[in-house]
Amino acid sequence: MDEQSKIESFDFRRALGAFATGITIITVDNGGEIHGMTANAFSSVSLNPPLVLVCVDQRARSHSLLHARQRFGINVLANSQRAISEFFARPAEDQHTPSEAGASFDRTQHGTPVLQGALAYLECRLSHAQIAGDHTIFVGEVEDLVVRDGEPLLYFRGQYRELGPQG
Ligand SMILES: Cc1cc2nc3c(=O)[nH]c(=O)nc-3n(C[C@H](O)[C@H](O)[C@H](O)COP(=O)(O)O)c2cc1C
Repeated sequence: MDEQSKIESFDFRRALGAFATGITIITVDNGGEIHGMTANAFSSVSLNPPLVLVCVDQRARSHSLLHARQRFGINVLANSQRAISEFFARPAEDQHTPSEAGASFDRTQHGTPVLQGALAYLECRLSHAQIAGDHTIFVGEVEDLVVRDGEPLLYFRGQYRELGPQG
């Protein structure tokens, strides 16, 4: 990478970091085990049918699992779940048991793992996948969901944040 493109990459990341987001954990079954990945490149796509998307790095372990399983959970983190976000953002060799980060899971009727205590989960069936640069856009049709009360975990300029007082 030359000097010019390094500067562009830095600016690109800074610009994206100015867009405050929530945090999700993408959960997928891995041969009976649970695989999770922290992701904030999540968006709603369509109301009818109900579609959402998540962009996943092609080097992530989740990438091949999403293709293989065709079903996944998108779990919206509550503000008490920062340690879970940090845990599932780590490389495999630095991950031990998810319960150390306070993560426990249920299984849906389809066997998709979903995170207990998340503000919401959306269970998705893979609708289609579109390669986009070094990531793949996974579009999922929402088959089931649960919404709970609580406050969100936010991410802004590379830092975890919480909502301030309303108004
Ligand atoms: C706040 C935050 C948001 C992230 N969002 C994404 C994302 O949207 N897509 C992605 O591919 N990786 C994202 N990552 C990086 C992955 O969580 C990280 O590379 C993880 O180790 C990949 O897991 P896997 O290889 O086990 O699938 C994010 C990391 C953090 C800390």
